[in-house]
Amino acid sequence: MNKIQILLTGGAGYIGSHTIIELINKGYDVISADNYSNSTPKTYERIQKITGQSVKHFGVDLCDLFLTKQLFEENPGIKGIIHFAALKSVPESVAQPLHYYFNNINSLLNILECVKVYSIPNFIFSSSCSVYGNVRLLPVNEDTPLGITESPYAYSKLIGEKIIQDFARINPATKAISLRYFNPVGAHISGFNGELPNLPPTNLVPVITQTAIGKRKEMSVFGNDMATRDGSCIRDYIHVSDIAEAHVNALKYLLEETQNSNYSLFNLGSGNGVTVLEAIRAFELISKQKLNYKIVPRRPGDVEAIYSDSRKANTLLHWKPKHDINSMMETAWNWEKNLALD
Ligand code: NAD
Ligand code: WQD
Repeated sequence: MNKIQILLTGGAGYIGSHTIIELINKGYDVISADNYSNSTPKTYERIQKITGQSVKHFGVDLCDLFLTKQLFEENPGIKGIIHFAALKSVPESVAQPLHYYFNNINSLLNILECVKVYSIPNFIFSSSCSVYGNVRLLPVNEDTPLGITESPYAYSKLIGEKIIQDFARINPATKAISLRYFNPVGAHISGFNGELPNLPPTNLVPVITQTAIGKRKEMSVFGNDMATRDGSCIRDYIHVSDIAEAHVNALKYLLEETQNSNYSLFNLGSGNGVTVLEAIRAFELISKQKLNYKIVPRRPGDVEAIYSDSRKANTLLHWKPKHDINSMMETAWNWEKNLALD
């Protein structure tokens, strides 16, 4: 039987590469397009080491419509697209808003133009919990009214969702899904794939592991005066392989299930709120070492607490996350230790 061919944009990145692994394991034929602005083609070697399969890949900037169309001309069998490609740093987006809007919106518009021209029936978009902004009622579900969007990055995701929704309305032959990820962390269970951005990371878990390995002298905990159980911020950390698996399920949902509408939206979180200090304690327990951290004032723009109600994805996508915070920390730590041996 012919395998179903899926194009992943941003497939060399953190979540894209873990999703490639899950798709290959489930028997899909995967191709990847990336401009390596926040990754390198070396990712495909790591995927091959884990899956035993090579990935057909293209170095393409999706902001270039001509090159993007060429990709579809050369690969006429694409049956679905998972669009991961985007710039994703919140502070960088505040410093360079035009760069973020240009990249994240143009790449999406170009891909959707190809969806239309080449009649691609299935489309999945990486959105973010950051579209909720500062919300009062927790947990947040897909019907929670959105607060104020805090950054150009978050706004680029909100605009992206709206563009896809409008596109789907007049293109009934394409079914589309937006997935709002909460805080993806951790690494592949093999220890051979994980987060490896081109710039120093600012997210909590890579900051923790880099501090523990000695790449950073100490780390900061941004605030302990929040209205939470220990004063530090609450987030919904979710293992990257669970996120990857949700994409496989979302694809299956598009391919097999009959939906009322050709556009849907799902939260992807664990449903558990974990404080920064609890996350650090979980890391200290699994790594059996004390982390050098200090409490500093709140980070501007941080919401105090947010976590997901993911029952819609649990029910309709038949998706249940498998990893808890200990497993997230353990796999992230194994990846950091393996990087040190590289
Ligand atoms: P990542 O930076 O590791 O991966 C994104 C990939 O897209 C990179 O390999 C980058 O080189 C590529 N890319 C960017 N612009 C491109 C362009 N114009 N043309 C071709 N390739 C391009 O990020 P990630 O963590 O894997 O995130 C994947 C997606 O999920 C992004 O859309 C991100 O906004 C979204 N997301 C991430 C998180 C998170 O915390 N990691 C949370 C919510 C949503
Ligand atoms: C988590 C918690 C920090 C670093 C961002 C985006 C969101 C999504 C996920 C893309 C916060 C605290 C962090 C540090 C700390 N990405 N922290 N010391 O801000 O929840 O979400 O990434 O879509 O859109 O906004 O993630 O990992 O930066 O922070 O104390 O050195 O850890 O204050 O409470 P965040 P994060």
